[in-house]
Amino acid sequence: METFKPEEYQKRRLALLSLMPLGSTACFPAADNKVRNGTANHYLYRQASDVLYLSGFHEDESTLVLHKDRTGNCLTLLFAKAANAEEDQWNGARMGLEAARKLGFDRVHEKQQLTRVLNRLLQETDRIFISSGANLEAEESLIKMAAAKGLQPARIQSTSKLTGQLRLVKSPDEQKVMERSASIGAHAHNAAMLQCQPGITENQLRACLEYIFVMNGATAPAYSVIVAGGENAYILHHPADDTILADGDLVLVDAGCEYLGYASDITRTYPVNGVFSPAQKEIYELVLAAQKAAIATVKPGITWSELEAVVEAILTKGLKKLGFQGLKAGDLMPHTLGHWLGLDVHDVGSYETGKGKTKAERSLQPGMVITIEPGLYISKADKRAPAKYRGISVRIEDDLLVTASGAIVLTQSAFKEPAEIEEMMKVGKGMREELGEGQLVVPPRIPNR
Ligand code: GLY
Ligand code: MN
Ligand code: MN
Repeated sequence: METFKPEEYQKRRLALLSLMPLGSTACFPAADNKVRNGTANHYLYRQASDVLYLSGFHEDESTLVLHKDRTGNCLTLLFAKAANAEEDQWNGARMGLEAARKLGFDRVHEKQQLTRVLNRLLQETDRIFISSGANLEAEESLIKMAAAKGLQPARIQSTSKLTGQLRLVKSPDEQKVMERSASIGAHAHNAAMLQCQPGITENQLRACLEYIFVMNGATAPAYSVIVAGGENAYILHHPADDTILADGDLVLVDAGCEYLGYASDITRTYPVNGVFSPAQKEIYELVLAAQKAAIATVKPGITWSELEAVVEAILTKGLKKLGFQGLKAGDLMPHTLGHWLGLDVHDVGSYETGKGKTKAERSLQPGMVITIEPGLYISKADKRAPAKYRGISVRIEDDLLVTASGAIVLTQSAFKEPAEIEEMMKVGKGMREELGEGQLVVPPRIPNR
């Protein structure tokens, strides 16, 4: 069930322990199994990313603990729920403690033992790290336990600085998984392009992407799928809804899948009817030129500011040429150029290094995975824009693996050139006509490599 070999997880836990000071404990509660509505109706369960990273353990009601005593002896512990035939008939089989013991932890305990064992470890603890965000109740109870043992608030810290350092650079095995996540995501975008036509709803296009995700081995979307027709694309995170995609509008689709826990994050913008209008094409080609220039600049040692400067220069010059009055790129692009990508779509890892006087922007390193996603968002009411461009919003987003000499675009198979998009949408139209009204045009599954 775990994604990687036990040795890889052990290596990660040892790397984390090596970052921990003497006399410290790090606690990682499993994600909460959240109720969606009613009584027994839960959201699709997703383990906390740090727990996945450090153990691959998928079960809720568990806690991972790493401890380094004051002399440097290290201990890794897993607290898990025991299998229970009656409960498991409702919710699915748990691994059980015996099987969990084979995962390479020094100790595996029943979850009821957490308080007792942790209180003992806290006697040897001057600093505790608690992961945050995935299970507020469990985090609060850990903070209370630490405070009750006399640890001052400054000595109760988040684990994110530790895991952020490790998760920023992906191992060769992680890179392979992310490559697959990106290819499935790109494939789904191409399928949506083949399916897109005036009259279908944003939700129907979302369903097409999600179908392809799952049919190619992904679990689910990595984040709520954004399908935004026409003016909706001005809203950066517009969730797909019942809006009918209209002839003559663009549609912006920001969707990525989760494959073995790892996210892809892709945006494509294209004409609903398959042909860009001249004004749409001008804005699209400007964003595309900026995106390509940024991608060509990515290499080890480059900083985000340097990449942003490349994009800013191209967009500002291009906007002026198109007749936008006194506008800089930043006026029409409210978000940053990109972010780290991994187990979380906005992955952990600081964008800075050092402290105080040594504080500096973090530069790119081989093994990092990032997105590059410039956009221009022109409101219908924006009088600073020539009338023909008002209401047009475009974002183009790809996922990149930083290599020793530059970068590999992991999502390069998603159609992006205007001519290629128009050609493929024409092919899609033909396929739909052949299949008949209401049928899903499904490209073949991508082969497993
Ligand atoms: N899908 C969210 C983002 O692009 O950052
Ligand atoms: Mn993104
Ligand atoms: Mn995105």
